[in-house]
Amino acid sequence: MSDPALIRRAVLTGTGTYLPAQIVTNEDMAKRVDTSDEWITERTGIKQRHFAAPHETASFMGAEAGRQALSAAGLAPEALGAIIVGTSTPDNAFPATAVQIQAMLGASKAFGFDLAAACSGFIYGLSVADAMIRAGQVESVLVIGTEVYSRILNFEDRGTCVLFGDGAGAVLLQARNVAKDGAGLLSTHLHADGRLGDILYVDGATGRREMPGHLVMNGREVFRHAVSLLSSAVTEALSANGLAAADIDFLVPHQANKRIIDGVGKKLGLPPERVVVTVDKHANTSAASIPLALHEAIAGGRIKPGALVLLEALGGGLTWGSALLRI
Ligand code: UT7
Repeated sequence: MSDPALIRRAVLTGTGTYLPAQIVTNEDMAKRVDTSDEWITERTGIKQRHFAAPHETASFMGAEAGRQALSAAGLAPEALGAIIVGTSTPDNAFPATAVQIQAMLGASKAFGFDLAAACSGFIYGLSVADAMIRAGQVESVLVIGTEVYSRILNFEDRGTCVLFGDGAGAVLLQARNVAKDGAGLLSTHLHADGRLGDILYVDGATGRREMPGHLVMNGREVFRHAVSLLSSAVTEALSANGLAAADIDFLVPHQANKRIIDGVGKKLGLPPERVVVTVDKHANTSAASIPLALHEAIAGGRIKPGALVLLEALGGGLTWGSALLRI
């Protein structure tokens, strides 16, 4: 008989990443567009980004990150239950990136699908995986964020092309029966406001042949909404769990802009050593940014088992949300 004091939760058992070999510094970008290392660093905190080579597609990078997460957890691909991929830059409209990754991994029993929530794709994916695990539908889910934004950037627009990079991150969630204060996802909260769709979007897709499909952003407007919406998302996560900001060991935010990250950290009263920042090295990798940052902090020994970690993201849609996770 199962112990009634234990709760079925989605527990993080492995992480993995993939970054393209090619590093593009701010100085490299300044050779391509009218910009400078000084402007980019001051406004965003970004120093460099990775750009994918032709073979480094969303499915290729996602599979590499996923393979690493499975191996870190010691789970054989054939035992995996599901794959959820957050991406805005899939190789094909279909098959879904997740299903392509299923084949690459040999995860023969897993079902899979892609999820379109732009930079919030990883948080949305975590939320869906959490619900499926809690409901007993599946025992293990790979949640992957994988993006090749270099292929949708408008290199005529210096206001956006310097901000993004390519990469992939993955986490493996597995069902475990744990004590109330044990490991696992404690909550997720999702939001969207389609009325703000025109401040950050890609002007095309396979359903619209006449459109090339480039990223368009009103940076100032996104910035303005980001700090206030993310701060309220963070407050919502804390109050839903009866916690105070001081209870959070680490904030692992979506990596879009160091000034936005600092703004939310400040509102929470978190010192810089408890906020994970990778935007300087990766730039904004959209749905991949949180799992990339999370992996780096866990694999580097900074975030240890038992730590309470708050994740938050905001992206095109607008979409935004949070996840509270005990490692
Ligand atoms: O992940 C999805 C969420 N996305 C975000 O969170 C992005 C949010 N927004 C931002 O991070 C910031 O708004 C930006 C970094 C995009 C821009 O910073 P800003 O302080 O809002 O600058 P701005 O767009 O108001 O532009 C200021 C000036 C302009 O010149 P003037 O008109 O004041 O003479 C721009 O033309 O900076 C100029 N500028 C540049 N200069 C050099 C814009 N881009 C560049 C550039 N290099 N790359």
